[in-house]
Amino acid sequence: MFYPEEIVEEVRGKNDIVEVVSGYVKLQKKGGSFWGLCPFHNEKSPSFSVSADRQMYHCFGCGAGGNVFTFLMNYENFSFPEAVRALADRAGVRLPQAEYSEEARRKAGKKARLLEVNKEAAKFFYYQLRSPHGEIGMRYLRGRELSEETIHRFGLGYAGKNGAALVEYLRGRGFEDALIKEAGLAGFSERRGLSSQFWNRVMFPIQDINHRVIGFGGRVMGDGEPKYLNSPETPVFDKRRNLYGLNFARTARSGNMILCEGYMDVIAMHQAGFTQAVASLGTAFTLEQAALLHRYTENVLLAYDSDGAGVKATLRSIGILRAAGLTGKVIDMRPHKDPDEFMKNLGREEFVRRMEKAENSFFFEIRVLESGFDQKDPEGRTRFHREIARKLCEFTEDVERENYLQAVADRYHIGYDNLRKLVVAYASQTGLARPVERPRTGRAVRSSPEESGKKAQRLLITWIADEPGIYARIQSYISPEDFTEALYRKVAERLFADLERGNYSPAGIVSMFEDEEEQRQAAELFHTKLPRLDSLQEREKAFHDILYAVRKNSYEYYINQTKLEEKDGLEQIKREIDGKRALEELAKTHISLDVG
Ligand code: UTP
Ligand code: MN
Repeated sequence: MFYPEEIVEEVRGKNDIVEVVSGYVKLQKKGGSFWGLCPFHNEKSPSFSVSADRQMYHCFGCGAGGNVFTFLMNYENFSFPEAVRALADRAGVRLPQAEYSEEARRKAGKKARLLEVNKEAAKFFYYQLRSPHGEIGMRYLRGRELSEETIHRFGLGYAGKNGAALVEYLRGRGFEDALIKEAGLAGFSERRGLSSQFWNRVMFPIQDINHRVIGFGGRVMGDGEPKYLNSPETPVFDKRRNLYGLNFARTARSGNMILCEGYMDVIAMHQAGFTQAVASLGTAFTLEQAALLHRYTENVLLAYDSDGAGVKATLRSIGILRAAGLTGKVIDMRPHKDPDEFMKNLGREEFVRRMEKAENSFFFEIRVLESGFDQKDPEGRTRFHREIARKLCEFTEDVERENYLQAVADRYHIGYDNLRKLVVAYASQTGLARPVERPRTGRAVRSSPEESGKKAQRLLITWIADEPGIYARIQSYISPEDFTEALYRKVAERLFADLERGNYSPAGIVSMFEDEEEQRQAAELFHTKLPRLDSLQEREKAFHDILYAVRKNSYEYYINQTKLEEKDGLEQIKREIDGKRALEELAKTHISLDVG
C-alpha cells in the first residue's frame, strides 16, 4: 500500500460513492439502493446497483463490484494510488508526499518491485528501439506497416545484441540482481554472468488491465528460434489470467471481443480500429481468460490463423468459451492466414463484413467434422451423423439442443427424426446428456465441491456483514482459518477483527487490496445473493447450513493438507477425530438469529 491506511479511509469516507458514480452513470433511486446501466458491460436494463449504506457498487449482470476506488480504477483505468490521488483531490484531502521514498518502496513489497523493474526494462527497450542500435528493429516494425503511433501506444521496444546491457542499466537504477532474475529479465551463466535472454528481438511489453508491465514477449529478428520468446511466469505474470491487449480492449465497448492468436495480430487489429482484439500469452487460451472476457462481453469472435493449427486451436477455444458461458463465433479469414495479413490485404471494411458473417461455433465444429469423413461413402456418412449426435448431446439445455438438432438436420439434409433417434440413443447409452424426451427441468447447474465450498464462504461473509449482530453468537464456531481461499481468509481476518472492535466497514476492507481483480473479488464477498426466507426457523436453518458447510469444507481441506504434507500418522488421526467431533457438535447446536 502506498498510502497509510488511515489516509485511504479518510479519502474514502469523504467521497460518497453515490455522488462519485453519478458523475459517470445516470442513477435512479429504487428501494434502498441506486440503480443504473452498468458501465462495465453492455446492457439494456439496469442491473448495476450502488448502495449508500455500504458505500459499494455491484453489478448483478457482469459481477463487477467494489468501492469508490475500485470504480475509478475500473472506469478510468487508474491504478490504486491514482484513484486515491484523484479522490483526495476531489475531497480536498492532502496526501503525504511519501509515496516514492525509498522507505515506501520497501514497504510496497515484492510485487511492486517486480512491476517497477519491468517498467524500467520496458523503458530501456523503448529507447533502444529509437537509438541507432535499434534501427534493425524499427525497420522491421515499419516493414510490418505499424505506424509511429501504434508503436508508441503498445510501448514496443528492441533488445539489442548485447544481453548484458539491460542488466547494467537496471543495476544502475538500483535494482538488485536477484530481483532482475526473479522478474525473468536475465539469467546467470558461467560464461556471461548475469545477462538477458532477450537479445536481437523486437520487444512487446505485456500489460495487465491497469497498464502495468507484467512481462514481455520478444520476436527474433530473422529466423532464429524460438520465434517468440516470452518471460517466464513470475509473481506478477500469470499467463493464465491475463490477455494481451485487454488493457485497451476493456474500454472498447463494442459489444464483442475478438480473440486472436498472436501479439502482432492484436496490434494490427487495434491499428485498424478494432480495439476489442486480445490474444493469449504465448500459451493456449484458458478458462480463466474466458472468465475474464466474460466480465466485458457475452460475445467472443475467434480470429485464429486459418491453417490447420489455427483450426485446431479454434476448436479448443470454442469448448472453453462454451464452458465459460460465452457465445463464440468464428471469423473466416481465408484466403489470408491471420488478422495481420488480412488487414494489410483486404482492409477494415472487408473485416467488418467477415465479422457480421462470423460462423456460429457449433456449425463451425460440424463443418470441420464433415471434412473428416468420406461423404460419398454410406459408412462415412453414418459415422458423421453419429458424431453430430454426440456433439448435440453436449448441450445440457433441452431447448438449445432441440434448436440445434433442427438446424443441423436442415443444413445437412439429414432426416430430423432419424437424427433425433441417434441423439436419444447416444444420450442414454453414455449418460452424457438426458434423453431428449425427458421433461424440461431447466438449466442443469453442476458445481464442483470446491466451488460450493467457496460459495458457502461467500454466503457466510455476506450474511455476517448484513447482520453483524450474529458474529458474537458464532464467534466460538468460526475463525478466519476456516476460509480456505487466501483472499477470503484475509477479508475474514479483517472483518472479524473489526467486528470485535465494534466498528466495521466492508468498503474499507475492499481497499486493503491494491489489485483491481482482488478488489472485485473482495467486494463480491459482500454481495452474495442470500436466500430470501421469511420465517425465523427457515432463516436459522439456512444460516446453520451455511455455517456447517464452511466448517465441513475447512475440515476436509485441512485433512487433505495434512495428508499431502505427510504429517505423522497419529497426529493426523487425532486431528481427524477432533475435527469430526467438533463438526458433529456444531450439527447439533442451535444458533439463534432472534434479535429480540
Ligand atoms: P505465430 O507463429 O502465428 O506468430 O504464433 P505470428 O504472430 O504470426 O508471428 P509473425 O507474424 O511471424 O511475427 C502466434 C503466437 O504464438 C506465440 C506468440 O504469442 C505469437 O504471437 N508464439 C509463437 C510463441 O509464444 N512462441 C513461438 O515460438 C511462436
Ligand atoms: Mn502471424
